[in-house]
Amino acid sequence: MSINTDTKTLLEELYATPEEKVIEQIHALKTELADQVLILGHHYQREEVIGFADITGDSLKLSQKASETKAPYIIFCGVHFMAETADILTDDDQVVILPDPAAGCSMADMADIEQVSRCWQELSEVLTPEEAVTPVTYINSTAALKAFCGEHGGIVCTSSNAQKVMQWSWGNREKILFFPDQHLGENTALAMGIPENEMIIWDPFEYLGGNTPEAIKNATLILWKGFCSVHQLFKPEHAETMRNNHPDIKVLAHPECSREVCERSDFVGSTEAIIQYVEQAPSGSKFAIATELNLVNRLRIQFPDKPIWFLSPMVCMCSTMFRTDPQHLCASLMSIRDKGALNQISVSANQSRWAKLSLERMLNFV
Ligand code: 13P
Ligand code: SF4
Repeated sequence: MSINTDTKTLLEELYATPEEKVIEQIHALKTELADQVLILGHHYQREEVIGFADITGDSLKLSQKASETKAPYIIFCGVHFMAETADILTDDDQVVILPDPAAGCSMADMADIEQVSRCWQELSEVLTPEEAVTPVTYINSTAALKAFCGEHGGIVCTSSNAQKVMQWSWGNREKILFFPDQHLGENTALAMGIPENEMIIWDPFEYLGGNTPEAIKNATLILWKGFCSVHQLFKPEHAETMRNNHPDIKVLAHPECSREVCERSDFVGSTEAIIQYVEQAPSGSKFAIATELNLVNRLRIQFPDKPIWFLSPMVCMCSTMFRTDPQHLCASLMSIRDKGALNQISVSANQSRWAKLSLERMLNFV
């Protein structure tokens, strides 16, 4: 099979091929291209794909690794904002590929540059220069928003370093505008001891985000009304039921879960931190975990001596992470072998310059 056939035909051919053959071909191509390609894999990737990753990690670890590699090609098995971040942090002659370009993030789509620019303008109409605001974007956002932060003295954060980033931001200016995830911002600030009455929610579809000028002046944290459609499926009653059924269980949650879920958890942390927590626990420890299903299932297999439950009775899977399958990964490798770059992710030079600034500020906090 050659990549000269158009992409759709190539994928159709790969789907018509028995999956074991596709897997064999990926192994062969990985060996052939070993000195050219680095495969990065986020912890939410499906089993058939994650095994091919040279490095697995959470968003922070994978951004760091992308900024360090000199590999000419990086295949990012993750979602769009992750591949964009890798492109921003790599040299111009390095190529970043997202195997399925439709692998987006619904949370990242909840704040766009027009909405954030309008919010910024409305805030400037209400606040004095002394009541200055640092824009902080969660890494789950478009390159345009990372560039906005770079240009306005702001910074990017991930679920691993949000506390350090917020500390830095409040050290510089009185207020933080945090987007697009309300929950990461809120859970982090509460853990830092910020009183609830200093936080307001900004609804991008309302004038002043639905707040009074006085409420904006009194706030130190302005939280964008965005969320993860996967993590919002975990509910506080799920944690309560688990505890009733297993009094010695430890509940572990990702900070994209609601405040009510995080408050009922023993530990709140990024995907990498959740993995480390389980790894370091003594044999026999019991866990209920509130994060994406593929990761929880993998932990169950890796630690058969530590009973692990998925916190929700419903299936909470990131359907866009799931889009990257062996067929798309195989097509990406074939394109590199054939001197192409199928589904290359490329951020414009102007956007990249500013976005890199906000990402580099973030990389000081690891
Ligand atoms: P981590 O950075 O913790 O891996 O989280 C990324 C993400 O998108 C979680 O939904
Ligand atoms: Fe985005 Fe949620 Fe999927 Fe993470 S789990 S990539 S925040 S949609």
